[in-house]
Formats: sequence, C-alpha cells, structure tokens
Amino acid sequence: MCEVVFVDSAGREKRVKAETGETLMAVAVRNGIDGIVAQCGGALACGTCHCYIDEPHLNALPPPSEEEAMMIEFVMEPNPSSRLSCQILMSDVTDGMRVVVPDSQH
Ligand code: FES
Repeated sequence: MCEVVFVDSAGREKRVKAETGETLMAVAVRNGIDGIVAQCGGALACGTCHCYIDEPHLNALPPPSEEEAMMIEFVMEPNPSSRLSCQILMSDVTDGMRVVVPDSQH
C-alpha cells in the first residue's frame, strides 16, 4: 500500500491510496481523476493516460520502454517528466509520488 498525490492544472491536490503492483492508470481511474481517460485500457495505444511525474520520483522509476517513449512523442504537450500512467507500477518507490495531470486532458 502506498499513497499517490494527483495534482490538476490549478494546483488542486487529491491524495489517494494505491495497492502495490497496480498501475498508476488503474489508481487514477478507480479514484475518478479527471483527465486520465485511459481509452485503450493500458494497451499502449492511446496516450490518454499521459501525466507528468514530479521529482524525486521521476528519476526513481524504471525508465520508459521504447514503446512508451514512442507513444509519448504523440501526446499533447509532452515534456521531460512525461510518462504514461498505464506503464507505471505502484511500489514502495512510488509512495508519496506527485502526479500532475496535463491541462489538455481535462
Ligand atoms: S491507457 Fe492507453 S496508452 Fe495508457
């Protein structure tokens, strides 16, 4: 069990619980986080689960796969902290992670 903090473009925070081994996308959908649409259900085919991960957690995560990196090139407003939430697994490493939902997905 860990906690994740979702932040919207206005800076509003929502702190939620996450189970070890579930994806960040699943945590967002279960908690009704506006802007994490996850249209393809985690199949790396839509990019609508795009989010920005704050430091220090960004560097603590395993790097994106080649497929994830390619999909990130097609999302709106990518930046160096962009990740696809369907590719991030919850663990001790993600405890306290701040996840910013892009304005473009609201
Ligand atoms: S849910 Fe479609 S790429 Fe992540």
